[in-house]
This record gives sequence, C-alpha cells and structure tokens, in this order.
Amino acid sequence: MAAVQRVLESGWIGTGPECDRFEEELADHLGGVHVVCMNSCTAAIEVAVDRLDLPPGSRVGVPAWTHPATAVPAALSGATIVLLDVDRHTLQVAADSLAGAIDQGLNLLIPVHFAGRPVDHSVLDLARSAGVPIVEDAAHAFGASDADGPVAGRRSVAAAFSFHATKNLTTGEGGALATTDGELAAFAKVHRHHGLDEDAWSRQRSGRWSAGDIRRPGRKANLPDSLAAMGRVQLRSFASRQEHRRTLANQYRRHVSTIEGVSLVPGATGPGNADHLAVVVLDHGIDRDQIVGYLESAGIATGLHYTPLHHLSWFRDHATIGPTGLSVCDDLARRALTLPLHARLRTTDVDDVCEHLAIAIDLAGRR
Ligand SMILES: Cc1ncc(COP(=O)(O)O)c(C=O)c1O
Repeated sequence: MAAVQRVLESGWIGTGPECDRFEEELADHLGGVHVVCMNSCTAAIEVAVDRLDLPPGSRVGVPAWTHPATAVPAALSGATIVLLDVDRHTLQVAADSLAGAIDQGLNLLIPVHFAGRPVDHSVLDLARSAGVPIVEDAAHAFGASDADGPVAGRRSVAAAFSFHATKNLTTGEGGALATTDGELAAFAKVHRHHGLDEDAWSRQRSGRWSAGDIRRPGRKANLPDSLAAMGRVQLRSFASRQEHRRTLANQYRRHVSTIEGVSLVPGATGPGNADHLAVVVLDHGIDRDQIVGYLESAGIATGLHYTPLHHLSWFRDHATIGPTGLSVCDDLARRALTLPLHARLRTTDVDDVCEHLAIAIDLAGRR
C-alpha cells in the first residue's frame, strides 16, 4: 500500500519510471533476458503473435486443457486453432498429439507450463526441430525453472507471464513478455502502446514536444506505474512466498497420496516447479458434484482448471481437433478438481482440506 501511495503522490501514475524499474528487476530475476511489461499475459501473447505475422491459413497448436486466453490471440489473428491432447500425468501438451499435428502442418505452438511445472524440453524440441516457432504461455510459471534456468523464453520466441490477482506474483492485473530477442523486446515496447514510437513518459523524460509516429498499428497494453509498484514489492518477497507455496504443495502431495480414490497432478514434480495450482483427479465413478458440494458446505472453495477448449462453443464450432483426438481432456474434464492453494493458506488448512476431501470421497463411495 505504501508503494502504491508513493506512486499516487509522485505526480506520475501512468506507465513510467516504476514500470521501467520493474522491468529491470524482472530481467535480473529471470537471468538477463529482455522483459517488457504488459497489462496482461493475454496482451503479451498477442504482441508475440502479432510480431510473427502469421500468413493467412496458419495453424496454431494449443493444448485443449487451458484457459481460453492461450488461444484467443491467435484466433483473433484469423489462424486456425489446432487443439492438442494432454499427457494425463502433467496436463501439458502430449508429445504424440504434437507430433501428429506437426506432420499435418503447424505455423506456431503455444504450450502451457500448466500449474507452474515447466513443459518438458523433449516436447519443446519436437517443435523446434520441425522449425515451428513457440510462444510459451507462462501464465502459471513465474518462479519456475528448468535445466536452462528460469522459464523466460530461452527456447522460444518469448514467454508470456501473468500477474493477474490469482498468480504467484501479482499486480492485480498485469503481465510481461520475456525474450532473448532484443528486436522483439523493442517491438513490444512500441506495440504495447498503439505502435507509437513515443509515449508520454519518454516525452517527459526527454523534454521533447513530439506526438511520435506509427509505422504499424499496435495494441493498448501498457502496465501503469501504480500496478508496477505493487509488482516490485511482490518481487522482493517472492522467494519466501514461493517457499511457503512449496511447503503447502508438498503437504498436499504427502496428504493426498494417503487418500484412496484421488491423485494429485502433475504427479511428478521437480525443484523448478512454481507450484501454482493444486489439481487433483478423482477416480472413475466418484461423483465430482457431490465432492464439490460437500467441500462447499464445509467452507472449502474449489475450482476447475480447466473446461477444455473444445467444450466451449466457439472452439467447438471453429477449432480443429488434432490428429490424436482429445480423449484425455474429455476424461479429465469430468474428474479434475482444483483445491485451494494461495499465499495466506497454512499447512493446517491443507490438512483440513485433505481431511474433508477424504470424508467426501468416502461418503460419495457409499451412495
Ligand atoms: C494458462 C493461462 N493463460 C493465460 C491466462 C491469461 O492471463 P491474463 O489474465 O494475465 O491475461 C491465464 C489466466 O488465468 C491462464 O491461466
């Protein structure tokens, strides 16, 4: 609150010095890549997709198990969305589904680091070796790392992070594009601001009187300083909050593994997992509605990450289903459930959730 108040009192509440500093600090944190802040992860994906100038008739592969935001920017660009099935243990793009889609022709892949677990290099390398560009949907993956270091667009065109209210690092609404490509970063700085090569802060800083020029129309996707200030504070305490998340996630792993009828996904985790979500899959035959109802009556809110895209009207009518079908997504759509996982939870809360989950499954089994 003090950081936001400082910005409000500074006389500059638009995009300016706080955003610049937040970008520098994020770049440092991510190990020296270029970072351009946006007002959402969706905007970061849009900017990366715009930059690729996909030709008419392009096909863009996305996992069907994701938020619509992964696919909407490419859909709006006029591309055909090719929906890919996921691996049932990670809920991330399945290698066989991707390989089949590549054989049929793909112009872009947008994989999702679901729940903060980095997508396997073997999957990314399938696309890379076929010359298919990749834009990483890293909405869940700020704080995630793999053998290359922090997830930050090192094997792709760019990674798009979300700083939405529910994310591990939040500015309320916000996001960032991370890339090793300096030209893309320069494009993004202009493109996030209508395509104008001069914004209010650069005018103020230089003292020039100039309205700037547009060579290519862009988006309106800048992050205001009041929100960047929140992100800077969040970044300072990020390591300790991630440690707390890891403790909670491990508590879920230990406890859920003792409950019959349910398993946690992603099953395999590693030190680089950002532990963004606690998703469980119920065994066949357990009525999820009953479990949700019981937990709700005990004051425990649950969610669903996600309704697969082909179950949503527009995608059902307009997207293409990849060559291996979407049977894993269809199956998990009836059985997945997201349990509470957030910074204010205590390990005793996790125990409480798990105890109620065990009772709910027991009751559902007896009906
Ligand atoms: C996987 C995924 N991608 C993209 C987004 C969109 O993020 P934003 O709201 O920052 O645009 C979300 C939002 O929750 C998400 O879960």
